[in-house]
Amino acid sequence: MAQELPIVFPWPGQEALGQDLISRLGWEAGHAELRRFPDGESYVRILSEVKGKTVIICASLDSPDEKLAPLLWLAATARELGATKIVLVAPYLAYLRQDARFQEGEGVTSRYFAALMSRHFDALLTVDPHLHRYRSLDEVYSIPARAMSAAPEIAAWVRGEVERPVFLGPDQESDQWVSRVAELAGAPYAVAEKRRLGDRQVELALPDVEAWRGFTPVLVDDIISTAGTMLETLGQLKAKGWPPAVCIGVHAIFAGKAYQDLSVAGPRAIVTCNTIPHPSNRIDLGESLSQALKEML
Ligand code: R5P
Repeated sequence: MAQELPIVFPWPGQEALGQDLISRLGWEAGHAELRRFPDGESYVRILSEVKGKTVIICASLDSPDEKLAPLLWLAATARELGATKIVLVAPYLAYLRQDARFQEGEGVTSRYFAALMSRHFDALLTVDPHLHRYRSLDEVYSIPARAMSAAPEIAAWVRGEVERPVFLGPDQESDQWVSRVAELAGAPYAVAEKRRLGDRQVELALPDVEAWRGFTPVLVDDIISTAGTMLETLGQLKAKGWPPAVCIGVHAIFAGKAYQDLSVAGPRAIVTCNTIPHPSNRIDLGESLSQALKEML
């Protein structure tokens, strides 16, 4: 008997990347009805046949709390209807930043979230997860969890668009992304030192980049959330007489009016990957994500 093709369910509102995976891989498109009852509970109905198939749910987990219940019910429904394997493709994976108990009494939510996902899914694929105190996803996820990197695509974009770039990472943990991108782009890099003072406020000490005067600063971070980190770095560069920097984030969270605030600060460009749909998406990860998914299965 011919093996069933995997079936991909793109998350509502994020259809573009899911549909792209479907057409690149020639897999089946899954259809489901997800909505809220008037009382706020989630309604889930799978409209495609999933029995005997590998089900892939492609959902970026920005605003995770809103998505969590319908995501788990969708996975549970697929399992009950006979799916053989359920894979979560979360181009942006949430709940990794609370990776320690920073203050007495806090919940280490990265662990709880990972445990929950590991119970409902059989495998996970994501892009540049925020790994700081964890060295790999395996420290918290008990299912096969693969992290792919957007570094090759970011480096290619910079090579095509920016002359004489010097890369800057805002903090120690950004070293893992910035060093890779810089190496692939054949350009210098340095990382700053950051101390978070609150949800929106950071204190930052720029590294010495005087040797690269005349270069174009390119800030690279995994997540742009409140944009506080980018704004502080931009401001300090400006105060030192550097030209406007290019701001690159892998994941375009842009909480509240963060995108507006960052645009007003006058960077040369704000560029993100298409892990979360946003007007700043310039870097397409469809090809590498589909390759990684194919390899994973
Ligand atoms: C955390 O350390 C991350 O790598 C980012 O630097 C951080 O999430 C950015 O957040 P925000 O845009 O709120 O400064």
